[in-house]
Amino acid sequence: MFKGLKLAGLCIFGTEGIAAGELRRMGAENVSAENGRVVFDYSDKLLVRSNLRCRYCERIVLLAGVFKAITFEQLFENVRSIPWENITGKAGAFPVNGSSLSSKLSSIPACQKIIKKAIASRLMSKFKVSHCPEDGAIYRIHFVALKDTFSIMVDTSGEGLHKRGYRAQSMEAPIKETLAAVIADLAIIKSNHTVIDPTCGSGTLLIEAAMKAKNIAPGLHRTFACESWQQIDKELWRSERALAVEDIITDCGFHGYGYDIDDEAIALAKQNAEKAGVAACLHFEKRDIRDYSDHFDRSTVICNPPYGERLLDYKKAREIYTVMGKKFEKAPGKSYYIISPDEEFERYFGRKADKRRKIYNGKLKCQIYMYFKN
Ligand SMILES: C[S@@+](CC[C@H](N)C(=O)[O-])C[C@H]1O[C@@H](n2cnc3c(N)ncnc32)[C@H](O)[C@@H]1O
Repeated sequence: MFKGLKLAGLCIFGTEGIAAGELRRMGAENVSAENGRVVFDYSDKLLVRSNLRCRYCERIVLLAGVFKAITFEQLFENVRSIPWENITGKAGAFPVNGSSLSSKLSSIPACQKIIKKAIASRLMSKFKVSHCPEDGAIYRIHFVALKDTFSIMVDTSGEGLHKRGYRAQSMEAPIKETLAAVIADLAIIKSNHTVIDPTCGSGTLLIEAAMKAKNIAPGLHRTFACESWQQIDKELWRSERALAVEDIITDCGFHGYGYDIDDEAIALAKQNAEKAGVAACLHFEKRDIRDYSDHFDRSTVICNPPYGERLLDYKKAREIYTVMGKKFEKAPGKSYYIISPDEEFERYFGRKADKRRKIYNGKLKCQIYMYFKN
C-alpha cells in the first residue's frame, strides 16, 4: 500500500551504525545511515517487524517526502505531490507538527498550516469531496526542516519505542531504555555472559542487557499507532508477534547482578525485571559501591553512576568514580562500560579508557568510557 515510500528509524545521534546493523539483521533492504536516522525500503513486514524488534530506534516513520523548499509555494507543491490518498485514505486524521533549524521557512505554525492545507487539498481533489472528515485512524505527520531541506514523515510507532512497557515508574535520573540498549550493544553482551551494574537504580541497563541476551523483542508487550491502520493486515501483526516469541532464547546462561545503595531503587528494579520477563536471570541487592566485589572469572560491568548535576554534588559523584577505579580491577575476562557526562571522569577513575564514545543522554553530552584491555 505504501509502495514507493521509504521507512526510517529515528535514533540517538551517534547510534545510526548500530541501528542500521540491527535493521539489516531483521531483513531490511537498501539500508542507509544518515544523521539521526536509518532509511530503508518499505515493506509491510519490515514496518511491523522494526516496530516490534528495534532496540535502538526511538520511532519508525514512513518517509513520505524529502525536498528543498525556501518558499511556502514550494513547500505546498512538494507536499501536495505526495500520494496522501494512499497514506491517510479518505477519513484518516492528519495532525501536523515539526521543527525547523537553519531554514528560511522558520515559523513552525506557518509550516504546519501550509503542510496541512496541501494534504487536505490533495485529498479533496482525489476523493472529490469538499472537506476532509478526519474521523478515521490517526496518521501523525512530522516535518523536519534542516538547512532548507524538508523531511515529511508519518509516525508509525505512537509512543516512543523506548517505552517497552516494563517501566511504569522510575527513579530519579533513569537512563532511557534505547540508550541502555546501545550500551549493552557496545559491551557486546552475549547469551552466556555475566553482567553487573553496581549503581543499578531502577535496573534499566541490566533489563535491556538481559532482553538482548535472551533475544526478547522490546515491543512485544505494547501496541503501535499503525496497528489501527487498515492498510496493514492484522494477520501480519499476529504472525510477526508469534515469530518474535519463537525467537526468544529460553535456556541461556545469562546472569545479571544489580546493586544500589537505595532500598527503593532495588524494589523498583525487581518489579521492572518481573514486568520485562527477565526476573529469573537477574539478582538485585542493596549494596554500597564501597563494598563492591566481583568473584566471577569473567564479567562485564555496565553502569550509569550518579551525575553531579542531578543526584549528588560533583564532589560526591567524583568520589564514587574514584571508588570504582579502585574496585574495577584490570584483569583478564573483565570489562567495564561506564556512561558519564563528567569530562574529568578518567582522572577520578584513575585510568584512561581503552575507547570512548560520545553520546547524548537526552540533552546531556556524555561519554561511554570503555575498559576492556588487560
Ligand atoms: C544515575 S542513577 C542510575 C539510574 C539507572 N541506570 C536507571 O536506569 O534507573 C545512579 C544510581 O546510583 C545510586 N548510588 C548512589 N550512590 C551509590 C553508592 N555509594 N553505592 C551504590 N549505588 C549508589 C543511586 O541510588 C542511583 O540509583
